[in-house]
Amino acid sequence: MQPSAAWKTRPAPASARVPARAPTPEELAGFIADARAGLGRAGQKELPPKYFYDEVGSSLFEVITLLPEYGLTRADARLLRRLAPELAARLAGPVAVAELGSGTGKKTRWVLEALRWRQPIDYFPIDISPAALRHCAEQLGKLPGVSVTPVEAAYRAGLEMVAAQRPAGTRLLVLFLGSTIGNFHRGEARAFLGQLRQTLAPGDALLLGTDLVKPAVTLLRAYDDPLGVTAAFNLNLLARMNRELGADFELSRWAHEARWNAEERRVEMHLRSLEEQTATVRLAELALRFRRDETIWTESCYKFTAAEAAAMGGETGFGVAAQWVDAEWPFAETLFLAH
Ligand SMILES: C[S@@+](CC[C@H](N)C(=O)[O-])C[C@H]1O[C@@H](n2cnc3c(N)ncnc32)[C@H](O)[C@@H]1O
Repeated sequence: MQPSAAWKTRPAPASARVPARAPTPEELAGFIADARAGLGRAGQKELPPKYFYDEVGSSLFEVITLLPEYGLTRADARLLRRLAPELAARLAGPVAVAELGSGTGKKTRWVLEALRWRQPIDYFPIDISPAALRHCAEQLGKLPGVSVTPVEAAYRAGLEMVAAQRPAGTRLLVLFLGSTIGNFHRGEARAFLGQLRQTLAPGDALLLGTDLVKPAVTLLRAYDDPLGVTAAFNLNLLARMNRELGADFELSRWAHEARWNAEERRVEMHLRSLEEQTATVRLAELALRFRRDETIWTESCYKFTAAEAAAMGGETGFGVAAQWVDAEWPFAETLFLAH
């Protein structure tokens, strides 16, 4: 299926296939700057989680979503399947769907299938991972009545690109699933939703997936599985720096660690140095020294209450239209409408 005539005017890839590729000079410069800022500092070293998602990392993430301990993706999928008909009924008129951090978009098929019965649907998965976008376009591009245009960009830039070129009279449904909002610190999450709202027009919609607080033991199993897939996903960050930034991290001297921070209600992922050691990151001109048990903090996954999830939208210019909660693995899907 071709994109509708109005969408054809924007610079979109000729085909839905996004080939795997090496990082661009700009991406490399960004990675170098973030490595310098995060690893070169005194105190707790950090790296932004967006660097997990090279081709290896995106593939490992897909495996994580299949693990019995990681109930989050299945809860998200169950809810999407259940709510999709009601969602389609609530959003009258022509709708285009933009998804932030789509990954492979596996769960999104339920939403697209519900919407396409009314009219052909333009779907814009926005992600920084070319590998994830390639899989997404290959899978969802097969759905009849759905036109997939992958947007390889950061969340905000990607959404601005899509919103600026929407045909008149088309409302945007933005999906932000998988509780990826939980990777932002709480204040940053609100700021992000506020910016997102500024990009939207009244009547546009946001469907936000949030993982809810649950017993620490359940959460820690989800982020430290016995097969070691999440460990590999975390350690791949060091391997990626070795590949792309000319670093020399010795992976066997590092361990994956998941921590439940009860006060902040977040799971933290760290890479723990198993011994006193040094490492260099050639392209970032970093010569690093790590103490035994010193960590690099690589990700935060904040957990919410259903009321908090609703309030986040309310405080940032959205009205709550509906909320669905999974009973098996507490997870909330909240539908917001832009005022
Ligand atoms: C936790 S995964 C979730 C994937 C999918 N939405 C799901 O629910 O399974 C996060 C996704 O967001 C993408 N991502 C991370 N940071 C991003 C950013 N700043 N801009 C755009 N995409 C980003 C990653 O490449 C990855 O595909």
